[in-house]
Amino acid sequence: MFGKKKEIPQIDKDQLELIQNAQHRVKQKKRLYIHFVVFLIGSILLILANVVFGIGKDNKFLDIDWFVFVIFIWLFFLLYHVFNVYITHKFMGKDWEQKQLDKLITQQQKRIEQLQQRVKKEYPIPTEKIVDSEKKTKNASEITIIVAAGENDAIGKDNKLIWHLSDDLKRFKSLTNGHHIIMGRKTFESFPKLLPNRTHVIITRQTHYKVPEGVIVVNSLKEAINVTQSDTQPFIIGGGEIYKQAMTLADKIELTRVHENFEADTFFPKIDMSIWKETSNTFHDKDDKHDYAFSFLTYLKK
Ligand SMILES: NC(=O)c1ccc[n+]([C@@H]2O[C@H](COP(=O)([O-])OP(=O)(O)OC[C@H]3O[C@@H](n4cnc5c(N)ncnc54)[C@H](OP(=O)(O)O)[C@@H]3O)[C@@H](O)[C@H]2O)c1
Repeated sequence: MFGKKKEIPQIDKDQLELIQNAQHRVKQKKRLYIHFVVFLIGSILLILANVVFGIGKDNKFLDIDWFVFVIFIWLFFLLYHVFNVYITHKFMGKDWEQKQLDKLITQQQKRIEQLQQRVKKEYPIPTEKIVDSEKKTKNASEITIIVAAGENDAIGKDNKLIWHLSDDLKRFKSLTNGHHIIMGRKTFESFPKLLPNRTHVIITRQTHYKVPEGVIVVNSLKEAINVTQSDTQPFIIGGGEIYKQAMTLADKIELTRVHENFEADTFFPKIDMSIWKETSNTFHDKDDKHDYAFSFLTYLKK
């Protein structure tokens, strides 16, 4: 119903224009031929009228019969007609104009190419600058890992978190609010419901993985990073498998270090201090609401 409008092939249009031009030229030449024949007959009739029938025999100017002047004036119009057909229309008609225009365009294009080559030679663009700007756009978003791990790097057991620390959850909520959260399929399935005001990006190898509306499914971590390019700070929120793969890609780690060793089946990878530097460390003691003491740590890639 909303199919594309059918385009008239350009070749037909061009051919039609050529045919119309040819027809026009034939008509012009025919009219000139008729003019010439009428001129011949007319001239003979004028001569006959004067010489044989004596019409206007006494009308002379400079002792020359009137019909000679008429024939000359007519001849002048005939020559003008010839000029129009063979000079004006041939050399200054539409075809001629188009040819001149084409020639001009080709000349201009050649000149532009020459100038472009000269600019390339004389003012080369330094490639380093391009690489730099590419780097900048790539690094425009700060890929951030967010995780809570025990002293022994434990992060989960039986596809569940091991602790409940309300201030840590509040921090998670405020940091990730309005951003993309990238996670493995198992972590996604450990959620009771979608987290509000965040775009969920789920990584799975499954091709037909069903998710609620608005959730993005991808087949690799790289693809996940690609779909979050508009976000200045996409968060990688777990779990163990995804963290492992993300360590080389991430720019920042927001770690909640829970000061306790836990029995677990999923662990966070060791943070290599030759690659990362700690930029912030805030301690939170245990209290009525928090069974364990913990610290908020921020790491940036060196
Ligand atoms: N403490 C924390 O901060 C924290 C945060 C998050 C999660 N967790 C815990 O971590 C545990 C879950 O972690 P997990 O390691 O078992 O699972 P996960 O990393 O959440 O998800 C693993 C799944 O992700 C998909 N996947 C992984 N790598 C992939 C790749 N390269 N390409 C395509 N798909 C890929 C696969 O899905 P398919 O099998 O569908 O192909 C794989 O089974 C849970 O216990 C959870 O509570 C803890």
